[in-house]
Amino acid sequence: MKLDIDFVRAQFSQLNDEPGFVFASNAGGSYVCNQVNNLMEHYNRHTRVQPYSRFASSHEAGEAMDRAKQLWSEALNIDLSELTIGPSTSINTYVMAQAIGAGWKAGDEIIVTNQDHEANSGVWRRKAEEKGITIRQWTVDPETGLLDIVQLQTLLNEKTRWVFFTHCSNIVGTANPVAEITRLVKANSSAKVFVDAVAYAPHHISDLKALGVDGYAFSLYKVFGPHQSLLYVNREVTGDLASQAHYFNAGNPGYDYNPAGPQHAQVAACAGVIDYFNLLHTHHFGDSSTDTAGKMNDLHGLIQAHENQLGAPILDFLSNHADVQLIGKTNTRDNDRAPTIAFKPLRQSSESLVHSLQDKGIGTENGNFYAHRLITDLGIDPVDGVVRLSLVHYNQQADVDRILTELDRALN
Ligand SMILES: Cc1ncc(COP(=O)(O)O)c(C=O)c1O
Repeated sequence: MKLDIDFVRAQFSQLNDEPGFVFASNAGGSYVCNQVNNLMEHYNRHTRVQPYSRFASSHEAGEAMDRAKQLWSEALNIDLSELTIGPSTSINTYVMAQAIGAGWKAGDEIIVTNQDHEANSGVWRRKAEEKGITIRQWTVDPETGLLDIVQLQTLLNEKTRWVFFTHCSNIVGTANPVAEITRLVKANSSAKVFVDAVAYAPHHISDLKALGVDGYAFSLYKVFGPHQSLLYVNREVTGDLASQAHYFNAGNPGYDYNPAGPQHAQVAACAGVIDYFNLLHTHHFGDSSTDTAGKMNDLHGLIQAHENQLGAPILDFLSNHADVQLIGKTNTRDNDRAPTIAFKPLRQSSESLVHSLQDKGIGTENGNFYAHRLITDLGIDPVDGVVRLSLVHYNQQADVDRILTELDRALN
């Protein structure tokens, strides 16, 4: 079975806005599915009041928010009490650094990477420095940008408290084997694991209990939804963490790690992403008694095959071009390569290449994408940075053909 791309594209009205424009900057923020826009509009038109009171509009508002939280906890296979919906992943990790770091004591160690977006790096490093504990860096191969699990093993010991890494780099595009890494961490230490999935979730919504992680976060504005971030904190670790809520809300699920308070309309609209995925599942698999997490898994196979097909010719073209340094793996054969493709043009600046592409209707960007440490350690100027083409499942073969034509022209 193949992904019905016409059906997919019909769910994203923004795709009709600019005929001929190829949106290849999805890793910065995706288009929003119609289901989310409808929920947002309904909330703002009809239930724009303080939720959770007894009058009709308020009651409906609270129910819409609860529905979103329920659907997402089912999709991630977690308990409702383990889910926090906050304004962004950067603020969620910032808050978690206060919650987790409060318990760090001299002699403790943490492991961070230089592959991560700064949102899953700087906050932990800063807190560790403040607490005077040791920071160990799991370092990428400076040629490929890839992390090697063997190196991680040498960094783990009985003093390691937490290991922070990314499910998928927003530059390198390769998914790290989270379940395997988590097993390794647990076998060699008593450390907990926190994963940034911002660059992975647009390609697959994972079963978090199967991954075995203790913390996990991603941004829904890159997963066809509103500008919110989902944060999972395993209830088995919450006892060790310092609540960041108002004192009278401490211990109240959803509040402990969200001092910003819930953004009502956006939270309610988060349900639209799952409504969209459920519709996509029914369209391809018919009526099914599979639970929501299982449906995400079914969709993964379809979406991954489609995305691999989109990414392969671009990777082929770039890896064989003499004037280009491709970052990361050159193929999608192992099914672990998202179509998030970054490269450095060798005979012109990234900016000039991006301008040429943009002038021809290819929506792409250059820079360090806040993976400043990675870009610097790959020996690339972090201001000009890399060119990044990032596709998702609503991109189509015609987009790839246009990208290849315009890349060829712009590089020559
Ligand atoms: C891999 C990765 N992690 C974290 C973030 C930060 O997410 P947010 O914008 O929700 O703070 C981003 C944003 O680009 C990202 O790409």
